Amino acid sequence: MQPDRKLGESSGVAENWLMKIGADGEQADARSAGTRSSEIRPSEIQQTEIRQEGQAQFELGPAFFRPQAQTARELGLLAAAVQRAETGQLRVLETMAGCGIRGVRYGLEAGADFVWSNDADPDVLPTLEANLARNLDPDRYRVSRGGALQLLSRCFGAQDYYDLVDIDAFGNPSEFVGASLGAVKIGGLIYLTGSDGRSLTGHAPENALKTYGFFPRSNPSCQEQSLRFLIGSLWHAAATRGFGIEPVFSYFGIQTYRVMVRLRPRTQSSSAYKFLGHCHGCGEYQTIGWRKLSRAHCKNHEPPLPLTLSGPLWLGALHDAKFVRKMLHGVSRLPQARHSVLTELLQTFEAEADMPPYLFPLGEIGKRGQMDPPKRDRLIAALQTAGYRASPTHLSAQAIKTDASLERCIELSQGSS
Ligand SMILES: C[S@@+](CC[C@H](N)C(=O)[O-])C[C@H]1O[C@@H](n2cnc3c(N)ncnc32)[C@H](O)[C@@H]1O
Ligand SMILES: [Zn+2]
Repeated sequence: MQPDRKLGESSGVAENWLMKIGADGEQADARSAGTRSSEIRPSEIQQTEIRQEGQAQFELGPAFFRPQAQTARELGLLAAAVQRAETGQLRVLETMAGCGIRGVRYGLEAGADFVWSNDADPDVLPTLEANLARNLDPDRYRVSRGGALQLLSRCFGAQDYYDLVDIDAFGNPSEFVGASLGAVKIGGLIYLTGSDGRSLTGHAPENALKTYGFFPRSNPSCQEQSLRFLIGSLWHAAATRGFGIEPVFSYFGIQTYRVMVRLRPRTQSSSAYKFLGHCHGCGEYQTIGWRKLSRAHCKNHEPPLPLTLSGPLWLGALHDAKFVRKMLHGVSRLPQARHSVLTELLQTFEAEADMPPYLFPLGEIGKRGQMDPPKRDRLIAALQTAGYRASPTHLSAQAIKTDASLERCIELSQGSS
């Protein structure tokens, strides 16, 4: 294993916080770093607006918080609850905690035995500590201030492995990918977030190449492709360490990409780690293995047109359908108001899990067929009647996934309109 980079050599997300963290890069425990809960005066707590999400009562203080990310938080806790039920234990490392809402909810609603909530920003520490203290018994949590990379490396160094490592990063999370693998148990879960859509979707491919080592090209599936790039980078980082990963679920929402993967004890075959080819001429896709790169052409044209290639990326299942079904059972334990959105989302995950690694927007079907875009559910039914696999996709309400060609989708849409 490569030695971890030293503080100050870090790039990207962590950089802004390095000055605040301190030159030694050590984690400062809230209880020993001048941010003891006893220093948060009760009068301050009373004056702070207390919010509620799920069973958690929390204050925001100066922390970054997006109410719309509730679905992403709840997907994480539904998966964590299944993990807890199946393995009998749940220790969570929350590396970028903000106000600590995730840590609190893992504790209260996923039954986490222990949560370590960390954030690099010293200004959010009192809020983080207050929220954990408000909701969990003191022996069930720990709060610290420091860089996520240092925290992950520290856990690796101490052989302190977690059942769930949560990295809710802004922007490009590539620097945490390798380190996250060192802090998770074999069989444990990594929940990784990235929001650098420009790089991931192929609008700044050179940036993606520099920071992640893959080259995305823009195409109508570029959001799904972005999720697959994040899974692929975890797959490759795991393989370099002799491990494997498999996706648990993948979620694109509010312009943010989130993947949860499980660490496997052995490197898997590289058959799902290859390239996606898109033909700008006819809109069809092909999956291309490493040995066929020089033959990546679309034969729908004479002479055949070269494909635009993106990769390498993960072209296996986007979700673990069986695990997602177990997550669905947990929805009823969340507040009633959340049931329909989570149920619909998880059912869509299940339906799209093993579909081909791309989607067809209804608008593109309409444009290429010179007609109005077809109705989604009617086209899915027509495809299934014709013997194809077809499903909606959580990536867009105006797209479908199917093993039929785009040409066939156009024919069936023309027939059913
Ligand atoms: C997206 S917010 C976290 C939101 C929170 N998880 C939630 O669900 O409300 C990202 C947090 O990461 C912290 N952060 C940014 N870079 C960091 C780093 N390198 N190490 C640790 N924390 C970092 C920021 O201070 C911020 O609180
Ligand atoms: Zn073509």
